[in-house]
Amino acid sequence: MVIGLLVLTAIPTVTGVAQAISGQKTQKEREKDANRMKKFHIDVCCEAQSSRTTELHDKRLVLRDDRVWIGPTEALNPCKEGYVAESFFIEYPDNERVPVEIGLVTQVQDDPPLLNWIYVDKDTMELKYGNKTASVAHHVGPWDWTEDEEGIVFDGHERFTAVEDPKTHKWQIYYDLDDDGLSKHVPNRTKISVSLERTLIPGA
Ligand SMILES: *[C@@H]1O[C@H](CO)[C@@H](O)[C@H](O)[C@H]1NC(C)=O
Ligand SMILES: *[C@@H]1O[C@H](CO)[C@@H](O)[C@H](O)[C@H]1NC(C)=O
Repeated sequence: MVIGLLVLTAIPTVTGVAQAISGQKTQKEREKDANRMKKFHIDVCCEAQSSRTTELHDKRLVLRDDRVWIGPTEALNPCKEGYVAESFFIEYPDNERVPVEIGLVTQVQDDPPLLNWIYVDKDTMELKYGNKTASVAHHVGPWDWTEDEEGIVFDGHERFTAVEDPKTHKWQIYYDLDDDGLSKHVPNRTKISVSLERTLIPGA
């Protein structure tokens, strides 16, 4: 795994620095790290009062053309609509970010296996995926989960939004970082708030 190796070799440094500062991690913290690294699919929950809700609710996220899209319900790879995200949380290795931010990693292809970061594009608010070079200048985190560990949060909130492509009628995932209904970044498009949930991949 090309990027996988990059990610995984970078971790001891980051963890080492964190440990030097805060002392040894407790058993509980280590368990939490291990749980965060369990792989999951990302499923959409949409409770909006809209005739379009059925196009979003219970659908699974897929990756295509550097962006994140609504795919089929319970989709598995191979999937013709894109690569079904298989994700987990891990610290984003960047010494410039203090404190260290938790990133969201996803496998993006099978052959050869390749891991990328899912991030929020700072100019467009789209969720995108890419390697460290592509992502480092953007909002790479902090990602986390809700208290029950089922929901996915970004920067402490769940402001994920499905935005309809007016030409293809496909739904793409954005993040409403400014909490303004994406009125500045995405005017004039159909937008529906969604939440994202972890569906653990058995045996992964
Ligand atoms: C990172 O991704 C860019 C495209 O976004 C690519 O040009 C570059 O070669 C990749 N870097 C590595 C180390 O794979
Ligand atoms: C959005 O729609 C309004 C009203 O129809 C129009 O004035 C404006 O130019 C549109 N903005 C964009 C970015 O398309």
